[in-house]
Amino acid sequence: MQINFKELSLKNFKSHQDLTVNFGEVTKITGDNAKGKSSIFEAITWLLYGIDTVGSKLDPTPITYEHDETLVSLLLNVDGKELLLGRELNANKAKYYINEVPSKATEFNEILGELFEKVLFMSLFNPDYFFTLKWTEQREMILQYVTAPSNKEVLKVLPEAQSNKLADLIKKHSLDDLEKLHKDNKNKKNKEHIAAQSRTKTLKEQLEDYEHLVPLPSLRTELNIFKKKRDEAEKVIEESWENNSEINKLQSQIKRLMYERDHMQEHWKILKNEEIEDHCRTCKQPLKDDSVKAVEEDKQNRMADFKEQYNQVVTQRKELEEELKSLEYIDVSEQQAIARENQEKINPLEVEINKHNQLESIQEMIKEAEKTEGEVLQSLNESIFILDSIKDFRAKEAELQAEKVQALLTTLSINLFDELKNGEIKPTFEIEMDGKGYKKLSLSESIRAGLELREVLSEQSNIIAPVFVDNAESITKFKEPSGQLIISRVVANKELKIEEGS
Ligand SMILES: Nc1ncnc2c1ncn2[C@@H]1O[C@H](COP(=O)(O)OP(=O)(O)OP(=O)(O)O)[C@@H](O)[C@H]1O
Ligand SMILES: [Mg+2]
Repeated sequence: MQINFKELSLKNFKSHQDLTVNFGEVTKITGDNAKGKSSIFEAITWLLYGIDTVGSKLDPTPITYEHDETLVSLLLNVDGKELLLGRELNANKAKYYINEVPSKATEFNEILGELFEKVLFMSLFNPDYFFTLKWTEQREMILQYVTAPSNKEVLKVLPEAQSNKLADLIKKHSLDDLEKLHKDNKNKKNKEHIAAQSRTKTLKEQLEDYEHLVPLPSLRTELNIFKKKRDEAEKVIEESWENNSEINKLQSQIKRLMYERDHMQEHWKILKNEEIEDHCRTCKQPLKDDSVKAVEEDKQNRMADFKEQYNQVVTQRKELEEELKSLEYIDVSEQQAIARENQEKINPLEVEINKHNQLESIQEMIKEAEKTEGEVLQSLNESIFILDSIKDFRAKEAELQAEKVQALLTTLSINLFDELKNGEIKPTFEIEMDGKGYKKLSLSESIRAGLELREVLSEQSNIIAPVFVDNAESITKFKEPSGQLIISRVVANKELKIEEGS
């Protein structure tokens, strides 16, 4: 984009009551002090943005003479298209004109904003302007127009291992996200690793309790001997159990039948001595013979039944006694003692054998814990490696970026990054000319520095715009800038003179 100024007209702008400036490729403004040279410079920035040449709000209302409205208009040519802009101020009321048509402030600003960015235009137009910005704005501006190195370019200059790792990872995540992910993982794995180490340690300490174990084969041999003895004894006890419990059963049955027999003998006495009544129990009259006989018969019958029952009890008992005689009680107390003795020897042996099992499971757990520890450590190291790689990537990226910017400059050097002690990269912005900071430069040096910088911005942004070099009498020569040059110089004892040339 090429911006050219054609004609500027001032009406009641500061000391200028009525002035027209026609611009050429070069426009020379001369005159003694206070003849209104800088006011021409200011008129342009005020018209466009309502500010002075370094960005402060400006009220150009004349204070030394009677006047009506203040009006500045500028005929511009942007890429071959003419545009006439006007700003008017009347009793603090602003008016705007686009191609002589009264317009709203918003329309005016919009049309301007679409053409070029305010800060960029100001930096191109006034070589001092850039240095009035905050360092962060200066830096942002430079970086905005100098394309950052691509990831590919940065990866190329990183060590191969880092480059390969990051190349893969940045397909999925941004560098910032990767950093967050691995910072998080590093913290987590760090804690997990400490926990895993202490688990392995605790388990290994437990091994001390199992240091002097009797070897398993000899324990097993001994155990088998005692188990065999115990089992043999228990077999005998088991086998005699049916026999002995049969004897017990018979004995208790016999005992019950003997008790029943004794009880029946008592009852027999009562039955036998039962008297036959020959008188009625109620009326006391003697019973008839028939009746007495019947009572007697009944008693005889009951006695016969009883006898039969009694004989049954006795026979049954005798049968059981016969059966009992055929059985012999087997004494197992000795076998029980053997079983008990051997069991007592088995118990501690089993405790010892169990220790071997516990040892085995502790060893298994140690193996598992060591495996986990190794895996956690691997993940931790991976994250540390990635974080370091990201740090190095950023440092290289900054280096390349700075190189790119530096390549555009001839007498200036720019520092865009500071490296902190921990290797991290911190943005900064310092401009030097021949090793001296901007603030240390003389007037002519600072003009030269400003011109060099605006040249870079012009080239990088592809905008060719006019530049105003005020107080140029202080500088003997400078490289001709791109765009129209408007140059003002003090010349003693001279009225204001404006010459256009090429
Ligand atoms: N609002 C104003 N109304 C009237 N005169 C003003 C106003 N503001 C500034 N002036 C005067 O206008 C005159 C021109 O100022 P200007 O800064 O343009 O001069 P200059 O030619 O750049 O001078 P120098 O060589 O000293 O830089 C000065 O006398 C200044 O005091
Ligand atoms: Mg001046």
